[in-house]
Amino acid sequence: MIKVEKEFARKMFDISGRVALVTGATGALGGAVAKAYGYQGAKVVMTARNASKLRELEAEFKAEGIDCAVFAADPGSSEEVGKLIKFVVSTYGELNILTVCHGYNNPKGILEQSVEDWQKIMDADLKSVYVVCKASAEQMVAQNKGGKIVVTSSARSKMGMKGYTGYCASKGGCDLMIQSMASDLAPYHINVNTINPTVFRSELTEWMFDPESAVYQNFLKRLPIGRLGEVQDFIGLATFLASPASDFLTGGNYDATGGYWSN
Ligand SMILES: NC(=O)c1ccc[n+]([C@@H]2O[C@H](COP(=O)([O-])OP(=O)(O)OC[C@H]3O[C@@H](n4cnc5c(N)ncnc54)[C@H](OP(=O)(O)O)[C@@H]3O)[C@@H](O)[C@H]2O)c1
Repeated sequence: MIKVEKEFARKMFDISGRVALVTGATGALGGAVAKAYGYQGAKVVMTARNASKLRELEAEFKAEGIDCAVFAADPGSSEEVGKLIKFVVSTYGELNILTVCHGYNNPKGILEQSVEDWQKIMDADLKSVYVVCKASAEQMVAQNKGGKIVVTSSARSKMGMKGYTGYCASKGGCDLMIQSMASDLAPYHINVNTINPTVFRSELTEWMFDPESAVYQNFLKRLPIGRLGEVQDFIGLATFLASPASDFLTGGNYDATGGYWSN
């Protein structure tokens, strides 16, 4: 007799009723993940620094019947993140899923970049990830019900690039930090993984999607799947890593590169 639990197999991707906190929710990937979680019946708290953009999202999502709330906070500030976690718990009673989608880059060569500019990237893409993960993990441990932490890293975490000393270092650090965090939190049944995307459509990357451009053509030479990423391509992995289907997976860096990493 083959042993597969029927109920588990039927519901392993089900995140309905779970409380999910999504950072960078005003961005392309964060907004898509928050909406996708909401469509699947999760209760979603969206955060970013821009309060008015958050209010617009809240109105849009609620009009579609999504159970959601918003709270503006800087993910790099322990004080603000502390208030954010209190808000999540006072609104929905607990926190089950943290999905980190905030980030920043300002590419410059080492000869042109100031130490302060470099530090700003490190703080936005590494320190702030630590701050939100730590506060969320503390809350999940106190609840004693396990949890899921999904962090958006980058394909650039494992590949250097001209002008990317800050971005590549922060994302490479992010992957290793998440692997270490996964070991710290495994005894509490909290899974911690990264998603590592190449180029996905956003306000900042829109220019790369021009099929006539040299940048686009160069990417395609190394993209077996034959196109760049759309936000819809991101939500499956973000759901899988937030769902019971990934209960055995922790400390992983998951390829969302359309084959770029393998080619
Ligand atoms: N799109 C891609 O092609 C791609 C590829 C690889 C990796 N990624 C990674 O995926 C994540 C999301 O990317 P995205 O394309 O969705 O970005 P996006 O559309 O530019 O949105 C960025 C989000 O991060 C927040 N943010 C911006 N600067 C910040 C800072 N200094 N500190 C804290 N938060 C800040 C923004 O909200 P507020 O300004 O309101 O706080 C916004 O919600 C980032 O970590 C990015 O590095 C993206």
